[in-house]
Amino acid sequence: MKKVNVITIDGPAGSGKSTLAKALSKELGFTHIDSGAIYRAIGVACSLMGINLEDEGAVLKAASSLNVEMKGERVIVNGDDLTERIREPEAGLLASKVARFKGIRDIVVRIVREISKGKRIVIDGRDAGSYIFPDAELKVFLTASPQERAKRRFEELKRKGFNVSYEDILREVMERDRSDRTRKFAPLVVPEGAVVIDTTDKSFNEVLEEVKGLADP
Ligand code: CDP
Repeated sequence: MKKVNVITIDGPAGSGKSTLAKALSKELGFTHIDSGAIYRAIGVACSLMGINLEDEGAVLKAASSLNVEMKGERVIVNGDDLTERIREPEAGLLASKVARFKGIRDIVVRIVREISKGKRIVIDGRDAGSYIFPDAELKVFLTASPQERAKRRFEELKRKGFNVSYEDILREVMERDRSDRTRKFAPLVVPEGAVVIDTTDKSFNEVLEEVKGLADP
């Protein structure tokens, strides 16, 4: 097997991509890149600026004035630390709204390529294996039922102290799935050559061991 330098982990909301990417990168000594965090940061920053997220021109203009920096797991936009804000319940939908626009996707791909230069990386997202790194040596696609994914997200948000309902989260997850799968540019698809893992009935450790085995057989 080829030496693995790039591992991509794609999948829908709540499938466990970020948790897996974080743990895997730690174990392998790779750099973790959370591409969704960059879409979240742009969505949140545009919303804070009062931009109408349906207005592509206005979103692109606002986004071009943003300096997005990733410092470890922290996300800084024009000097403001948005790390906690981008994990608030509504940030996912703000992200998927701006993620529809090609100009925004180009900005994010540029940021990702810049951060990843010369490094061995684990990157998670929606288009990491299909569009950003089509030549990645290992591609993983995580899935789980919408109900299971909503349950995980609901528990995560409740743990963080947010007052959310399971039904609202399920609705939000399904709305994001629809938007991410049907958008024109780099939609959520199973990348060519990806190993598909359904995590509905698997523990986190089982999934981690399975992927570690694929990275380092
Ligand atoms: O953690 P979760 O899967 O809920 O979301 P995320 O990975 O932080 O991504 C938030 C949103 O950003 C997604 O619903 C997508 O609309 C968008 N996104 C994308 O379009 N492409 C990526 N590579 C990553 C995220």
